[in-house]
Amino acid sequence: MAPNVMPCRLLGVHAACRVCIGHPAGVVGLHLLDSCRAGGRPMSYALGKLNALCINGESIMPVVVSLISRKGGVAKSTTALNLAGAALNDGSNNVLLIDMDSQSSLSKALLGPEVVRQLRPDQTVQAVAERSKAAGDVVRETNVPGLLLLPSYPDLQVPADAVLNLAGIDPSLVVIDTPPDIRDSAIRCALLSSHAAISPIVPEPWGLQSVPEVQTLLMGTGVISNERLLFTGFLLSMVQRAGIHVVCENTLRRLHGSMVYDAVVPHAVAFKEATAAGQPVTHYAPKSSAAKVARTVYGELCSRIETALQRGAA
Ligand SMILES: Nc1ncnc2c1ncn2[C@@H]1O[C@H](COP(=O)(O)OP(=O)(O)OP(=O)(O)O)[C@@H](O)[C@H]1O
Ligand SMILES: [Mg+2]
Repeated sequence: MAPNVMPCRLLGVHAACRVCIGHPAGVVGLHLLDSCRAGGRPMSYALGKLNALCINGESIMPVVVSLISRKGGVAKSTTALNLAGAALNDGSNNVLLIDMDSQSSLSKALLGPEVVRQLRPDQTVQAVAERSKAAGDVVRETNVPGLLLLPSYPDLQVPADAVLNLAGIDPSLVVIDTPPDIRDSAIRCALLSSHAAISPIVPEPWGLQSVPEVQTLLMGTGVISNERLLFTGFLLSMVQRAGIHVVCENTLRRLHGSMVYDAVVPHAVAFKEATAAGQPVTHYAPKSSAAKVARTVYGELCSRIETALQRGAA
């Protein structure tokens, strides 16, 4: 391995990355990029609309993206739903949402609370995490054409080191929603099953304080165990024109630069109304500025993955 040449994949900086250097596993970000080059085969890319990822010559389909955060209520579930909606807008035939949060927010929004209450564990992601079922066995259609759901279970208990078996289903994109508690094994399972992660953050002091915990989660749970996992960045969410939000956004950008999405998701009632109607905002109010933002975030997610793969191939 030849360290000190590639930027850290997590923090987007060079060898001065203190997290990598200080981490017991060594220069983790550098290790990851080098491992992509193992065997002399460069990482290649063929991304377009996230319809396929090609790593080390291996075509990966579908692309799996996890929403993660140390804090609750930062729009993980809302972003998951709207990324799925934007992907459908973008031409994907099928998008699978996996609800790995025992709160079952997405499951309730898309299936209704009554249906969710009556689900047996073998009809949910619980069975897929235990590997007694594959995703195709328990997946459900929703009222949104092309949007599939793997519902959560209120007493979800994910076995340690579980990886989801996505067999029996052929979506172009999979989006996994996770709980806010980073000690929950559901997050580890989601990260082990993913190619990319995105972390919504509300620009307030408590939001900023959660950044190191997300980085630690990625170091300890994510990237070490799953070398193809890419952290695509922090997504500013529920942003208001308040002084504290401006200060915190500027601080986050100053400290973490390119690891912060350019796109910003404003606080807007359309997001709440769409979720209440059990639809992505791209479908509930397709012409709204909220829907436009959702499509922009999806576009940036695609381009961030593509850029990272290009960098790996260079
Ligand atoms: N851009 C937005 N503008 C206004 N309200 C929003 C926006 N995004 C999300 N919300 C609302 O904020 C609340 C929290 O959102 P959400 O449930 O998606 O967060 P979460 O991170 O998934 O929460 P949890 O950690 O509990 O799972 C919800 O009521 C949701 O409707
Ligand atoms: Mg949630």
